[in-house]
Amino acid sequence: MNRILIEPSLLSANYSCIEKEVRLCEEGQADLLHLDIMDGCFVPNITFGPIMVRTIKKLTQLPLVCHLMIVNPERYIPSFVESGASYISVHCEGNYHIHRLLEQVRSLGVKSGLAINPGTPLEYAFENAGYCDFILLMSVNPGFGGQTFIQSFLKRCERLKNFLTKESLENVCIEVDGGIKVDNVADVVLAGANMIVSGSGIFEGDIVENLIEMRRKIEELKL
Ligand code: DX5
Ligand code: ZN
Repeated sequence: MNRILIEPSLLSANYSCIEKEVRLCEEGQADLLHLDIMDGCFVPNITFGPIMVRTIKKLTQLPLVCHLMIVNPERYIPSFVESGASYISVHCEGNYHIHRLLEQVRSLGVKSGLAINPGTPLEYAFENAGYCDFILLMSVNPGFGGQTFIQSFLKRCERLKNFLTKESLENVCIEVDGGIKVDNVADVVLAGANMIVSGSGIFEGDIVENLIEMRRKIEELKL
């Protein structure tokens, strides 16, 4: 079994001491860092753009995963790649040319992901799984950190996992984002996820301790 990747979402980090927060993620053996890019249009919140991605890139060797919650992502994908993203996900909602977007990301040498909101049919994932490196299943509606995990999501994750196995697409990772904490991380992994995003679950309280605890819960599963 490949390592389950833990991915702190910096949306919940303290930006007044971001370097220290990143160091603590490293100390807790995080595998990736998740950066939420919001434009106030695709989602009702605004975060940051390529300049901040570049700043974080200078602070760490951890690969950066940019979750684009923006309209017209094709305009900005090259800037995020230049700024140091190693993975980029684009949403299927609101984008007419999903396949083209996924190919654009891949053509720039970055891992491409298709992000899907909780209310969107999984068929989008089924149709596009062959063209991406990971599928990002949202387990909350995108836009904010600290929301409650949508419980019915677990079945959805299992359906995607079964589909990927049936189609011999096990190399496509399942990334899950929203409401994941120490208490429910095992359920999410059991449902088939192998990239675990967590914001408030890691940054509220002791970052290193939360990361170690999450890893322990995953290892206890003895997958
Ligand atoms: C929400 C973002 C998430 C967010 C998760 O739109 O995509 O990455 O940071 O935060 P938590 O883990 O607190 O739900
Ligand atoms: Zn995210």
